[in-house]
Amino acid sequence: MRIDIITLFPEMFESPLNHSILKRAQDEGIVSIALANIRDFTTDKYHKVDDRPYGGGAGMVLMPVPLFDCFEHVEKLAPTRGRVIMLTPQGEPFRQAKAQELAREERLILIAGRYEGFDERIRIGLNAEQISIGDYVLNGGELAAMVVIDAVVRLLPGALGHEESAQDESFAEGLLEYPHYTRPEVFRGMRVPEILLSGDHAKIAAWRRRQSLERTKAWRPDLLPKDPPTDTRS
Ligand code: ADE
Repeated sequence: MRIDIITLFPEMFESPLNHSILKRAQDEGIVSIALANIRDFTTDKYHKVDDRPYGGGAGMVLMPVPLFDCFEHVEKLAPTRGRVIMLTPQGEPFRQAKAQELAREERLILIAGRYEGFDERIRIGLNAEQISIGDYVLNGGELAAMVVIDAVVRLLPGALGHEESAQDESFAEGLLEYPHYTRPEVFRGMRVPEILLSGDHAKIAAWRRRQSLERTKAWRPDLLPKDPPTDTRS
């Protein structure tokens, strides 16, 4: 997979992209990630990327011209356009199912905004999808882009090194994950559940499944499937 990031702050990505799984996935050629700075595509003396909103109001708006020039440069860096995604609080809420969908793509182009927002013609002109990582407002889309990249790259074949772990974890089946334990067997009076020491794999699997369901019911009931539809035929 190739991921291009269009941003005003490429330096913000340095640390997250250069550690642990994201670093290894790049080193092993599982993903290549490239950064483009919108400011490099300005043509005026002040390298201006934002301006006051038409109609008045607070804050500044990201201008379409440098963003489009940057996008058109980035687009040509690989043969496929892939999915073009703007990070914005107005976007579709980001969930595991979306991460799985994006992990099947050959290329993603992520656009991180700043200021009060993007000039509307950016979304329309690029025919971009919009993703939000939650119902709160960040100072820009960079952290959101990193969240999306982190969630997607770990799903790419080979990224984790051991295939089953991305299958098992929270949300993979729409449920929260079961509890984990490692040594010691007793810690500050708290014992590892006996069943996990039994060696009975079928029983352990059933216990874990029950735990997943119980936790989801208690902590995230919104994740459980809605009541099955009632049969209205007479
Ligand atoms: N930019 C600012 N806030 C955001 C959010 N919650 N999700 C995605 N991008 C954003």
